[in-house]
Amino acid sequence: MKAVVLKAFGGAENLVLADLPDPRPQAGEVLVEVKAAGVGHVDVMSRRGEFGGSPGSVPGLEVAGVVVATGENVDDAWVGRRVYAMLDQTGGGYAELVAADVEAVVALPDQVGEAEAVALGFNALTAWTSLERAGVRKADKVLVRGAGGGVGLMATLLGIHLGAAVTAVTSSALRGERLAALGASTVVNRLADAQAYEEYDIIIDPVGGPEFDRFLEKLAPNGRYVLCGGAAGFPTPDFGSTLLGRFPASPTLLMLSLSSISRAELRARMEKLLELVAGRTVASLIDETFPLAAAAHAHEKLESGAAFGKIVLVP
Ligand SMILES: NC(=O)c1ccc[n+]([C@@H]2O[C@H](COP(=O)([O-])OP(=O)(O)OC[C@H]3O[C@@H](n4cnc5c(N)ncnc54)[C@H](OP(=O)(O)O)[C@@H]3O)[C@@H](O)[C@H]2O)c1
Repeated sequence: MKAVVLKAFGGAENLVLADLPDPRPQAGEVLVEVKAAGVGHVDVMSRRGEFGGSPGSVPGLEVAGVVVATGENVDDAWVGRRVYAMLDQTGGGYAELVAADVEAVVALPDQVGEAEAVALGFNALTAWTSLERAGVRKADKVLVRGAGGGVGLMATLLGIHLGAAVTAVTSSALRGERLAALGASTVVNRLADAQAYEEYDIIIDPVGGPEFDRFLEKLAPNGRYVLCGGAAGFPTPDFGSTLLGRFPASPTLLMLSLSSISRAELRARMEKLLELVAGRTVASLIDETFPLAAAAHAHEKLESGAAFGKIVLVP
């Protein structure tokens, strides 16, 4: 099979197309013919050597495609089914074929394409779990940081779907216009309108970084803050003082990593998300598709910050 191999940790040029032996499904696994592989922030971190991965490995943590074979102890009825599959930390998704644990596989509704499924993927799972943990209710004021990025865009779309009044934060006028067109109640340009923030019932934050403290102060009394990523790096270590300083307002700080959530729960959430997309209640936005041979360009586009929606590799 053709697959993208990471030659060495470093720049995107280290992603090269290669011929590898076809994988065989082990006990408990299905073999998926990949039709779409998601490209995510975490793939970029792995490529740089900042998060898992290893030279010689095939990147890619989520795919959608068709099951073409099963390992021992897996129902043959999976063969021929279109599926979304979450892969383990060893990756393998940027390839024509990949073996996946059947416990991490969800059947796709007929109405949802493979690229649409990976465009939901981990970003939508993170966004939705964050909103649920924050206990979002109709008419809540929700601020989404990094709203033009992968997780933030899904948090914006799902927050609007759940009836919240979403304020979307972005640095780009164009992404801001698109977020407003998708239903964000307010758009704040984080570079031009730094004074435009109000108080929010919920803040969904995939950005973190040194400004995290400042946003903690924007929580309304009894507000909930979900830190679910670090696009701008770690918060400063003394953020606890800001949190304690707000004690009279009873703020709640939650953190969310999908790695803490069981596969059964992730599968159930993904099934629900796929239903929403199948019913056209929520959109799944694809920025651009690239062939496997252009995996380096796909990474460069993601790193440039120019994407709006998911970048997808199509073998
Ligand atoms: N919790 C989990 O299990 C989980 C799952 C998936 C991803 N993540 C993490 O979530 C984070 C975001 O992932 P993503 O795919 O959404 O990334 P992304 O597509 O790169 O989006 C991040 C957005 O944050 C904004 N941003 C970047 N640097 C910033 C800065 N210094 N200050 C303020 N805003 C900044 C940018 O938007 P603007 O320039 O338009 O403002 C960018 O679009 C990553 O750290 C990723 O590893 C966590």
